[in-house]
Amino acid sequence: MQQRKILVTSALPYANGEIHLGHLVEYIQTDIWVRFQKQRGHECYYVCADDAHGTPIMLKADRDGITPEELIAQVGKNHQRDFSDFGIAFDNYHSTHSDENKTLSALVYNRLREAGHICSSTITQAFDPVKNMFLPDRFIKGDCPKCGAKDQYGDGCEVCGANYSPTDLKNAVSAVSGVTPIEKESVHYFFNLADFTEMLREWTRAGHLQAEVRNKLAEWLEGGLQQWDISRDAPYFGFEIPDAPNKYFYVWLDAPIGYMASFQNLCDKTNLNFDDFWAKESDVELYHFIGKDIIYFHALFWPAMLSGANFRTPDAIFAHGFLTVNGEKMSKSRGTFITARTYLDHLNPEYLRYYFAAKLSNTIDDIDLNFDDFSHRVNSDLVGKVVNIASRCSGFIRKKFDNKLSMTCVEPKLFAEFIGESEVIANCYEQREFSKAMREIMELADKANQYIDHKKPWLLAKEEGKDTELHDVCSVAINLFRILAAYLKPVLPVLTTKAEAFLNAPTTRWIDELKPLVNHTLNDFEPLMTRVEADKITAIIDDSKETLLKV
Ligand code: MSP
Ligand code: ZN
Repeated sequence: MQQRKILVTSALPYANGEIHLGHLVEYIQTDIWVRFQKQRGHECYYVCADDAHGTPIMLKADRDGITPEELIAQVGKNHQRDFSDFGIAFDNYHSTHSDENKTLSALVYNRLREAGHICSSTITQAFDPVKNMFLPDRFIKGDCPKCGAKDQYGDGCEVCGANYSPTDLKNAVSAVSGVTPIEKESVHYFFNLADFTEMLREWTRAGHLQAEVRNKLAEWLEGGLQQWDISRDAPYFGFEIPDAPNKYFYVWLDAPIGYMASFQNLCDKTNLNFDDFWAKESDVELYHFIGKDIIYFHALFWPAMLSGANFRTPDAIFAHGFLTVNGEKMSKSRGTFITARTYLDHLNPEYLRYYFAAKLSNTIDDIDLNFDDFSHRVNSDLVGKVVNIASRCSGFIRKKFDNKLSMTCVEPKLFAEFIGESEVIANCYEQREFSKAMREIMELADKANQYIDHKKPWLLAKEEGKDTELHDVCSVAINLFRILAAYLKPVLPVLTTKAEAFLNAPTTRWIDELKPLVNHTLNDFEPLMTRVEADKITAIIDDSKETLLKV
């Protein structure tokens, strides 16, 4: 197999809030895919960063009585701890508020400007005369012009679903100071997205996108591309635009450039070469994992920016759907808006990694976390099927055979059958069809358990003269368990590390060349995973309601 060179990103989480289970769909999905690529022996890098700029972050720091720099440092630390506790193994984690990103954002902007893709014009916008700042739509509140519902945001009504502009709101007030906004003019800078209509028409059809995403883009392109407002007035937490004092890049301009900046930061720590990955002629594969809410930015603005600034474009955008909990949108009052930390306080992170893997496909369909289903899957698949194989057989090997496996594998066909699934399973991982991969692996686990049920080692252990058979059967089962662990390694790094310690045999690479362990000494078996307990789930939901009260 030829070694591939791959750069992978997940979307950069905003630095004003905690990581929650919805976010984790994405970071777990990406991490599994990256671990799989590495296990296959490819050269693969996974970079991410905190998305640190913008009005919400500036205002939150203000409310908390700290500087934005202090806020993003605190939040960044928490994000990285949460990710690491969920086994998400970035090769680099950076911040968009960094020197690398400042330099690269200026470079991209200057190249776009030199190529004639930037223009400026005066626009009128809502302004808070007390706070002395322009107000993003989300920071204007008032009564819905359609249904009259009170306290609605400037961009749309959460009661009747109407979309409108903030100037339509009745009794509008600034959410920052409470005063009535005034209208004020200001010069803004725009990116001429329409210059890239042809380029994008081609790019969006060239196999870089999922079918549903491609269709959505065809609609947007059909409707004509608007100029994109890429500037914001001071006060703003971000980067000042070159040659435009008091004007700042809109957060979404420098955010995707943060992918490059995080990679640049990695290059500076290693001997990787930035241009090999980002220059126009690069042959490295580049993939962005994102949620379906930010497709517009990644499949239109981003390729256009890259192409206009003479960089390479991504090979693919992999979008996923949204997480619902027990069939509904995550909700603070129902206790289903669950942070990564609250989950970690009660449950093993690998349960969630497995559950998401068992639900994820390569479509943008939403995925539901149903807690009954969650407990059932984890208990029946991982504890009941996979771990059970080892726990059923390891005791005999230890007690009767001094922890040593038998001299030959007496079921070469069964072993070969398990190995024979390796390309099917690999292909499922490659295609991000994780739920199919998990199904394949669990079918094999069923087969291993059937083999044990059929051979009944617990009876062999009681019969005279059956020791060799007992030894052989248990050794076969342990070897089958080893294959299953290797298949599950991208999903369950901790469980498989423990399994490898027990087996006294690491499997660093994908399975194809795996040979049965014979005449091989195991280490004592330690419990690999316990069952999900119902009271832990109740505790998570209670705690999640509590966080609400504290806010
Ligand atoms: N900062 C931007 C991304 C900039 S990328 C250059 C952003 N941040 S976010 O914190 O709101 O979301 C980060 C990622 O998590 C996004 O891909 C988003 O789609 C994903 N998710 C956030 N909530 C989610 C769910 N409830 N379910 C699934 N994914 C979710 O967007
Ligand atoms: Zn309304």
